[in-house]
Amino acid sequence: MAQEPAGNASAAASPYGTLPPASPMATRKPISLPRIQEMHTRGEKITMLTAYDATFAAVADAAGVECILVGDSLGMVCQGLHSTVGVSLQDMAYHTESVARGLRRAQGTAWLIGDLPFGSYQESKEQAIRSASVLMQAGAHMVKLEGGGWTTEVVHFLVERGIPVCAHLGLTPQTVHALGGYRVQGRGDVASEQMKKHALALQDAGATMVVLEMVPAPLSAELTKELPHCATIGIGAGKGTAGQVLVLHDMLGVNLGKNPKFVRNFMLDATSIRGAMEAYVAAVKNGSFPDDSLHAW
Ligand code: KIV
Repeated sequence: MAQEPAGNASAAASPYGTLPPASPMATRKPISLPRIQEMHTRGEKITMLTAYDATFAAVADAAGVECILVGDSLGMVCQGLHSTVGVSLQDMAYHTESVARGLRRAQGTAWLIGDLPFGSYQESKEQAIRSASVLMQAGAHMVKLEGGGWTTEVVHFLVERGIPVCAHLGLTPQTVHALGGYRVQGRGDVASEQMKKHALALQDAGATMVVLEMVPAPLSAELTKELPHCATIGIGAGKGTAGQVLVLHDMLGVNLGKNPKFVRNFMLDATSIRGAMEAYVAAVKNGSFPDDSLHAW
């Protein structure tokens, strides 16, 4: 009987996973920044889910999810922390590498976003590029960072040096202590004007995506129109955004606490995890998720 070459644990011989062997040949066209921009311009909804490991990332990709975010929500989801504040750059690099490897092995085409964790970009733009480089070298195509105003200069610095950036406004979990809890942001004239100002400045600085988290639906819809070059990705921000994102475990109903109001458990009507992800993609694309009467403010 032929012996397997030493050091080559082929997929057929492995009892632990179902990912195909690594292959350099992709069969679908990879998602790129121009494709995301084109979807935003055409009004086709962009789908995003978080993933933290190789297998879930490959399954999400196979289900048609266009963007995968290795979010620092992994602090809560994978590490059992109370907030994202304790997540390190090394943690993010480990999970980004795992997800990138999974996508590569499955010949995936998803756009991969790595989240810059708390403390890895706040000090200076030089610190930000050092941290962003770690995530890009781990396999990310884009980095995400939280906040508006002071971040504009950092975004400009990264984008000028060839690093695509996704901004994050509204509820920014890394600053949950300053915000006084997980609350809706941008309510009232002063706060909504400030968010608009920050969003426009981030677009001018070169951010090509912005996550809007727990932002009133009318404000998100207005921002989406005012940001033709920066695709808004909502989470608890209503249906008027260019795309949607959910934390994987929340949309699969895999948590022991209460899901936030903006989450739909897609496992309830599915017979498999891939089926739940496909239902999510379909619901975002056809506009049935989110339902502003249930999932928005
Ligand atoms: O860390 C994360 O998963 C996120 C999403 C909730 C947008 O930032």
